[in-house]
Amino acid sequence: MAETKDTYYLTTPIYYVNDVPHIGHAYTTVAADVVARWRRLNGDRVHFLTGTDEHGEKNARAAAERGMAPQEHVDDIVPRWQEMLELLRISNDDFIRTTEPRHQTRVQDFMQVLHDRGDIYPATYSGPYCVRCEAYYTVSELVDGTLCPLHRRPVEQLEQENYFFRLSGYADQLLALYDTDFVQPEVRRNEVRSFVAEGLQDISITRSALDWGVRVPWDPEQVFYVWFDALLNYATAAGYGSGTAAFAHRWPADLHLIGKDILRFHAVYWPAMLMAAGVEVPRRVYAHGFLLVGGEKMGKSNATGIHPAELVAHFGVDCYRYYFLREISFGQDGTFSWESMEQRYTTDLANDLGNLANRVLTMVESYCGGVVPDPVGGLGDAEAALAADHAAAVTGLQAMDRLDFKKALEDVWGFVGGVNRYVEARAPWKLRKQGADDDLARCLYTCVDALRVIAMLISPVMPDAAAALWGALGLPGPLADQRLPDAGALGATPAGVTVTRGDLLFPKLDDGG
Ligand code: MSP
Repeated sequence: MAETKDTYYLTTPIYYVNDVPHIGHAYTTVAADVVARWRRLNGDRVHFLTGTDEHGEKNARAAAERGMAPQEHVDDIVPRWQEMLELLRISNDDFIRTTEPRHQTRVQDFMQVLHDRGDIYPATYSGPYCVRCEAYYTVSELVDGTLCPLHRRPVEQLEQENYFFRLSGYADQLLALYDTDFVQPEVRRNEVRSFVAEGLQDISITRSALDWGVRVPWDPEQVFYVWFDALLNYATAAGYGSGTAAFAHRWPADLHLIGKDILRFHAVYWPAMLMAAGVEVPRRVYAHGFLLVGGEKMGKSNATGIHPAELVAHFGVDCYRYYFLREISFGQDGTFSWESMEQRYTTDLANDLGNLANRVLTMVESYCGGVVPDPVGGLGDAEAALAADHAAAVTGLQAMDRLDFKKALEDVWGFVGGVNRYVEARAPWKLRKQGADDDLARCLYTCVDALRVIAMLISPVMPDAAAALWGALGLPGPLADQRLPDAGALGATPAGVTVTRGDLLFPKLDDGG
């Protein structure tokens, strides 16, 4: 039986391990994790890949600066990256290191195919090179003729006898690809389209001066240029050339999530390499904007790097994951500030959601002994208004598929606000005083039911808070087994479950004073 794709396959970039991660790296990783969890919630089989990019000048120089062999250096740093994944509750299914044999041998196999097909040839290359970008530039791209356009630092001149990939032969196919939804958002698609339309040059894909990399199988004096080794991780880790059915189940990748600085590699070189090898191209490359601190791209080189652990220690992991996606429009640059994060924590999380949950659980405990009543009372205007907010949230959440996390979360918070309005409108404490038992039962049931749906809807973004809320509601079965759309409908809460008011979901922040 033919093996066919049945898996939603998504990836983050693989990270250079010249240093430890900062919140800019974590931004891509968290966003990808939210998509992975979102697709699982919708019942998809998901394969989520992240990993580390361990070859190249940048890593080799970092090792030399520490007086270490490259392998020793990367082995030392990689655990710091894996700790970040745990800290941020990243649910990756695989972690690829480009120094692993499974990667290296398959890179060689893939490149051999390109070589055999006549798309790789030897030639001399000379030109400006930026080590930080690990990229060649043309003189016209340099700032003032000498500086890297990204880092504004002097580039180096490199001249080498290399192997070239016949990129120029793929311009028409690439332009046709840009007529599809392959590159997103729109502004990035236009950027690559004009880059390709201006004319493509063949590109050097090997290095002779460097020893640290994947050996070129037909010329062991050379190693592959780190970017061509790195891009291939998406295929090697998915099982390309492994002789198993894994690759057929996963490929083509559904989503490569990247930052806008590495767009050209992913939207031009990568699909061209795949075309050359006769492998299907990925379905979507989405390039997000930068996190800025004080107006500059946050990074380790300009001392603005903030480690995720600093923020998680203060705000908790759920707020960490929520904040960046709610605060910043994903395709655009956005500014991190401590103050705006504090504001989001207090307003959206502690007040809107945390207090709501606490209030409802307290009432169910004190009015009903913790047992969720049968919704015997009739449905009125307040329930209708709530149902409309719910419908808007369920529809709005589909924005996740467009990676418009901000819009998705705004709509979920529209529903959270709706439940708060509902509590105020029905005033269960008054129903209790009036002895309106049926209405009280309807009201409390509705509140618990709404909290159940909220737990589910926030679970891709705030897995810990969602699980804590789910547990407090005493619902049967793990939250992870719930599937949209059915389980997200109102009225699916079984009456008779027992709630427990545990700790506050979002306790008051320690102001450090
Ligand atoms: N190793 C390459 C990627 C190879 S993928 C086949 C690389 N690594 S990186 O560690 O430098 O960057 C990885 C990702 O982190 C990129 O998508 C980059 O855009 C992202 N970010 C690094 N700093 C960032 C910000 N300040 N803001 C948002 N994302 C940023 O490039």
